[in-house]
Amino acid sequence: MKTRPLIQQFEPYSWEPSTSEIARRYGLRPSQVARLDLNTSPYTPKKWLAKIAKNLEKMQVNLYPDTSYRALREDLSKYTGMDVERFVITNGADEALDIVAKTFLDQGSAAVISAPTYSYFRVATELMGGKAVFVQRHEDFSDDIEGIIAACRAEEARLVFLCSPNNPTGNTLDEKALRQVLEESDATVVVDEAYYEYCGKTFAKLTNSYSNLIIVRTFSKAFALAGARVGYIIAAEETVRELNKARPPNSLSIISLALASTALRDLRHLKQMVSATLAEKERLHRALQKHSTITAYPSEANFILIKLHKHNADEVHEKLMRHGLVVRNLAHLKGLENCLRISIGLPAQNNKLIRTLNKILAG
Ligand SMILES: Cc1ncc(COP(=O)(O)O)c(C=O)c1O
Repeated sequence: MKTRPLIQQFEPYSWEPSTSEIARRYGLRPSQVARLDLNTSPYTPKKWLAKIAKNLEKMQVNLYPDTSYRALREDLSKYTGMDVERFVITNGADEALDIVAKTFLDQGSAAVISAPTYSYFRVATELMGGKAVFVQRHEDFSDDIEGIIAACRAEEARLVFLCSPNNPTGNTLDEKALRQVLEESDATVVVDEAYYEYCGKTFAKLTNSYSNLIIVRTFSKAFALAGARVGYIIAAEETVRELNKARPPNSLSIISLALASTALRDLRHLKQMVSATLAEKERLHRALQKHSTITAYPSEANFILIKLHKHNADEVHEKLMRHGLVVRNLAHLKGLENCLRISIGLPAQNNKLIRTLNKILAG
């Protein structure tokens, strides 16, 4: 097979097996498996689905969608306060990251990544033949701005990938630090705001003054629409024009577009889901903090990073899995040694996690 040499040795994005596979492996029913590893919402937005269902028969699925996605851009304009021309609609945030990489990176061009962070930044970069240059975060997980600027200069980087709140560490980016990178490097800076709704802190307005800033957002987290696959970019108009050149014309289904618009017209439901998740996060954080042998880091998103000081993270991960509790094992990543990431689930799932973890740590 004559695939690209790059693909032959490529380290792809990896995640835990499917729910049915996990259930089979541990002798559980799929309904007994709680996915606390993907930072998705535990709520199904039935209200929005019911609205869509009413209109389903009238949907012109025989036609392509309006490839400019104007209707959703108008709804996003109301939601964000930004002009309709300032958006690129994408098939999830991952496609947004792909479009950015396709627009900016050639073979060998560098992208600086503030690490540890979301691993798809590396994948999108390397798939374009780009060079991922990692700048390790400080011990408190804040971005090493001086290091990022120095790496941009040394590598003549085209892109910088930042994430706020950062997955998996949960901390947000500092505005002064962001301005410094935007002003002192020649790179275009991507700020992934996938978890924005959980913290309310955004840098979108800075795209009014900086054409080298790209904000990436998604409906996959707080909006509880990961399965619908809708994301978007906010940037200056001139940047949007360039990004649109690399955008596939029809990567979203009209059903997903309608779901996203329905969600944006019913923000009360979004707020209810976010409040419930934040309340559960506080409760879980307090319960985790009771253990003297773990550190539960503060988080501004819908997950909590923990570091185990006495137990082996691989073993704890495996034992939780046996009980149907799937959390993300990050123990082998630089800077996250012996760490696990726990997404906030339904109250009953969080209770089961606390109970089971208490038993494992006591045993
Ligand atoms: C920081 C970050 N960006 C993007 C994504 C992917 O988002 P989407 O489902 O919209 O592709 C994730 C998913 O975990 C994420 O953590």
